Amino acid sequence: MLKNKKIILGVTGSIAAYKTATLIRLLVKEGADVKVVMTDEAKNFITPLTLSTLSGHPVLSSFVSNTEGEWNNHVSLGLWADIFLIAPASANTIGKMANGICDNLLLAVYLSARCKTFVAPAMDMDMFAHPATQNNLQTLRNYGNVILPVGHGELASGLSGAGRMLEPEDIVQFVIQNTKATEKLKGKKVLVTAGPTYENIDPVRFIGNHSSGRMGFAIAEEFARHGADVTLISGPTELNELNEKIKRLDVTSAEEMYEKTVKHFEKTDIAVMSAAVADYAPEKVSITKIKKSGDELHLKLRKTKDILAELGRMKTKKQMLIGFALETDNEIENATKKLRAKNLDFIVLNSLKTKGAGFKHQTNKITIIDRNGIKTDYKLKSKSEVAQDIVHKVITAIHA
Ligand code: CTP
Repeated sequence: MLKNKKIILGVTGSIAAYKTATLIRLLVKEGADVKVVMTDEAKNFITPLTLSTLSGHPVLSSFVSNTEGEWNNHVSLGLWADIFLIAPASANTIGKMANGICDNLLLAVYLSARCKTFVAPAMDMDMFAHPATQNNLQTLRNYGNVILPVGHGELASGLSGAGRMLEPEDIVQFVIQNTKATEKLKGKKVLVTAGPTYENIDPVRFIGNHSSGRMGFAIAEEFARHGADVTLISGPTELNELNEKIKRLDVTSAEEMYEKTVKHFEKTDIAVMSAAVADYAPEKVSITKIKKSGDELHLKLRKTKDILAELGRMKTKKQMLIGFALETDNEIENATKKLRAKNLDFIVLNSLKTKGAGFKHQTNKITIIDRNGIKTDYKLKSKSEVAQDIVHKVITAIHA
């Protein structure tokens, strides 16, 4: 997904620099051409030889190459790159970047680069929390740089908290999600629902389901990568959206999801309803905790509003509506019925029969059925690849 992208990886002096070996391998695996610029401090944590071997390019760290006395042109390096990724970015480098200081090659490349710059901070928790660091990061954001989140956990200092560099796999995903694939959906307003809904029984209990939200989040991110303005309405999930262009609205219950989704639909061009909305919710929610009594407890449930069906009724000719179907038997027939009953343009049928597909899995297997009954089968793929297939189908339909 980073095919032919030219990336400069800036490595600064932090213990997390040892992880850049893995980071380069992953970036290269995604198809990127990676050149490394490192500070002298960074060499205490990983050798230039390791990084030049993995990247396939000499590693640059000073304005003049020691061996050949050759000038390392920071301007042409900066212009060469499609992406400048600084990982790990130490508090020192972040401070210098925020203040335009240019006392090493990495900083000169930063000032010369016209491409998008990603900064992955790595430092001790107190250094990260310090107002000076936070102000510097804000300054960098204001300059248009993208600051990656930090990880939480054990730090080199022995302390535990926020400040660790994100893991290489997460950095690569972050860069992919924030790098535009095309501008094909520029100006299009997309609405995506994701995750489960929780229906309260009393203040401490609820009825929910196993949806992780991964499929919906991947769809939202893929639309954003094609330039769309995405609103993501999500039920309770531990996921974080990666693309900062996604506007996220959190809801808990089916009723809340209904209210927010219906409200946004009017201004929407393309809506994808991938949330696993509860079909039934307790008729009455107890204000106090229900005490244990007797051998049985009967809960009366009432049907929730069908969000997708409501959007199908509201839909104009200019809008595109896509729903999901989770079927266990007569899959195609039932999904096609749903497509017609809810006035959809496409329905994405999730197979539960394939191992590795569905809730909680990282992978999914789908069939897309359109209004003409034409069905396209896809292989078992990662959820982000499935999202690419769905968005590709939408783009093809729009441009047909
Ligand atoms: N859906 C919705 N609102 C609901 C229930 C479902 O918007 N209250 C949407 C889901 O987001 C999904 C689609 O409807 O896109 C299909 O959900 P599914 O549970 O498969 O179908 P149902 O219509 O609920 O029917 P059944 O459970 O009987 O198969």
